[in-house]
Amino acid sequence: MSRFVLELLDASHDRKSFHSGLPSVDQYLKETARSHTEKGVSLTRVLVRAEAKPPKAILGFFTLTPCMVEAVGWPEVPKGLPRNPVGAVLLGRLAADLSVQGEGIGTRLLSLARRITAESLAATGGIGMVVDAATDDLISFYEKFGFRRIAGDSRRLFLPTRSLVA
Ligand SMILES: CC(C)(COP(=O)(O)OP(=O)(O)OC[C@H]1O[C@@H](n2cnc3c(N)ncnc32)[C@H](O)[C@@H]1OP(=O)(O)O)[C@@H](O)C(=O)NCCC(=O)NCCS
Repeated sequence: MSRFVLELLDASHDRKSFHSGLPSVDQYLKETARSHTEKGVSLTRVLVRAEAKPPKAILGFFTLTPCMVEAVGWPEVPKGLPRNPVGAVLLGRLAADLSVQGEGIGTRLLSLARRITAESLAATGGIGMVVDAATDDLISFYEKFGFRRIAGDSRRLFLPTRSLVA
């Protein structure tokens, strides 16, 4: 059995103690993520240790939400896309707690997010996964996993559906 489990964010998770080093991401987890998850606006999933008891320490989290994008001209999108917006999944937030950064949690979270997105898009259609890197430094983090920048002057990156699950 895995040492970690992925769970939908709920009241059993200790949001207050989570610190990623990026205040906007931490604030989202503390103030908005649970309400949005409960209302179905977006879904935040948290990684916790399998043996954790409430309040469960959050090792990392990510947020997924459907989105519409005008993707004509993006790297690796199918040729002849309609000019009007098409469906995709936005990786809205992704973070690991400072106490475990550098131990592969970010990689694990991204892999889980990709798999869930692949399953979702297999049911609904959609061209892939989109993410807006919070800083210039983070562009290389996503590129390492196959995401491509949609334009040189943008921090938006894209991974096509066929590349979601390696
Ligand atoms: C970005 C983040 C999720 C990475 O998580 P992590 O658990 O430390 O990452 P991993 O241990 O899985 O590292 C995977 C690889 O990414 C690299 N990496 C990690 N953080 C990085 C960063 N900020 N920028 C560029 N590369 C990074 C690692 O060096 C590693 O490379 P390697 O495989 O060549 O050694 C984490 O640093 C974090 O939560 N940062 C603050 C919040 C944040 O910036 N979120 C992203 C918002 S878009």
